[in-house]
Formats: sequence, structure tokens, C-alpha cells
Amino acid sequence: MLNITYREIDKEIEEKIVSNFGKWVKEYDCLHYGDGCYSVAAMLNGQPVGFISAYPRIYPEPLNHYFDAYIDVIEVDENYRRRGIASKLIKLTEVWAKEYGYHQIASWSSDDKKEAIQMWYALDYCVSPAVMRGQSVIKEFRDKPIHGFYVAKILNSFEKSLNV
Ligand SMILES: CC(C)(COP(=O)(O)OP(=O)(O)OC[C@H]1O[C@@H](n2cnc3c(N)ncnc32)[C@H](O)[C@@H]1OP(=O)(O)O)[C@@H](O)C(=O)NCCC(=O)NCCS
Repeated sequence: MLNITYREIDKEIEEKIVSNFGKWVKEYDCLHYGDGCYSVAAMLNGQPVGFISAYPRIYPEPLNHYFDAYIDVIEVDENYRRRGIASKLIKLTEVWAKEYGYHQIASWSSDDKKEAIQMWYALDYCVSPAVMRGQSVIKEFRDKPIHGFYVAKILNSFEKSLNV
């Protein structure tokens, strides 16, 4: 059994993530900090082997008073997959977001992320096939249709949520 610990990401862990997983983590601003954000790494022997980051995503009209906790990135080192690391990272984020008062947690995976789509389904997320267009921060994908799945889970009833 691996002795993995889960730690909120600070600048030191961020540097290790960029070094182990690649510069794209920084280039695409995948890690979010501050109010309503949650970023956690799975650490093994002082090195990150997985990470997750979520931020408050504002809805468009007519729901523009509300936010969800949006998982911008979840990634596990390919040498450590299928050991429950992503499940644990997601569970920690769900618990945090529920306590924070978010009504809903959500994410998106393009259809080439086959293992991620299986994972969302296995973790009881609602999944909906959807085509995203023109919203990507990644230049090559901008203004091109990207087929994939939106996923979401309700965390608090509307009455219990903080309207976030
Ligand atoms: C998707 C990803 C984060 C999963 O990480 P992981 O730590 O291996 O996931 P877990 O071990 O917690 O798996 C949880 C469940 O998801 C499903 N699952 C995960 N990987 C799977 C795969 N390759 N094939 C089928 N089902 C899979 C299984 O139901 C699994 O439970 P099980 O192992 O008990 O059968 C990892 O594969 C990854 O980093 N992929 C590349 C990046 C990516 O796609 N990120 C998401 C894009 S938004």
C-alpha cells in the first residue's frame, strides 16, 4: 500500500507539479487559489503524483447570481493510476465544496479522455454529452468544436447552499 498524503498546494508544491507534470500546468493557469478555490496534491515521498484544482465558475444569465465549484484540472501520474488517487482527490474536493456551501460541483472532459469519462460515471456524476465551441484557453482548440462530456453532482439542496 502506498503511503500517500494529501496536501493543499502551495508555491513549493506548485513548482514540483510543474516540474513533474509539465509547463502546461502554469501556461493554462490550471491551479487556483483564494476564496472559493481549492487545490490539493497527492504526495508520495515528497513528490506530487496527482493533483486537482477547482474554482468558482459564474453561470451565464439567467443564473448569473450563482456559481458552481468547477474542477479545472485533475491529473494522476500514469505510474500511479487505478489506485484510487483521483477518487480521493475528488472526494476531498466534494467535501470541501459542500462545506463551503456550493450548490453544485462540475467539470468537463473531452472525448479523448476515455479514462476520465469512465471515472466520472463510476463516481456517480451526472454526465451529459456536449459540444464545446470557442471557449478553450488552449489556442489550438479555440473556435473549434470539441466533443466531450459535461459532468456535475449536486452537493447541497438549494435551500442549504450559500447561493454559490
Ligand atoms: C482520469 C484519471 C485522473 C484517473 O485517475 P486514477 O487515480 O487512475 O483514478 P482512480 O484510480 O481513482 O479510478 C476511479 C475509477 O474510475 C474508473 N477508471 C479510472 N481509470 C480508468 C480506465 N483507464 N479505464 C476504465 N475505468 C477507469 C474506474 O471505475 C475506477 O475505479 P476502479 O479502479 O475501482 O475500477 C487519470 O487516468 C488521468 O490523470 N488521466 C489523464 C488526465 C485526464 O484525463 N484528466 C481528466 C481530464 S478532465
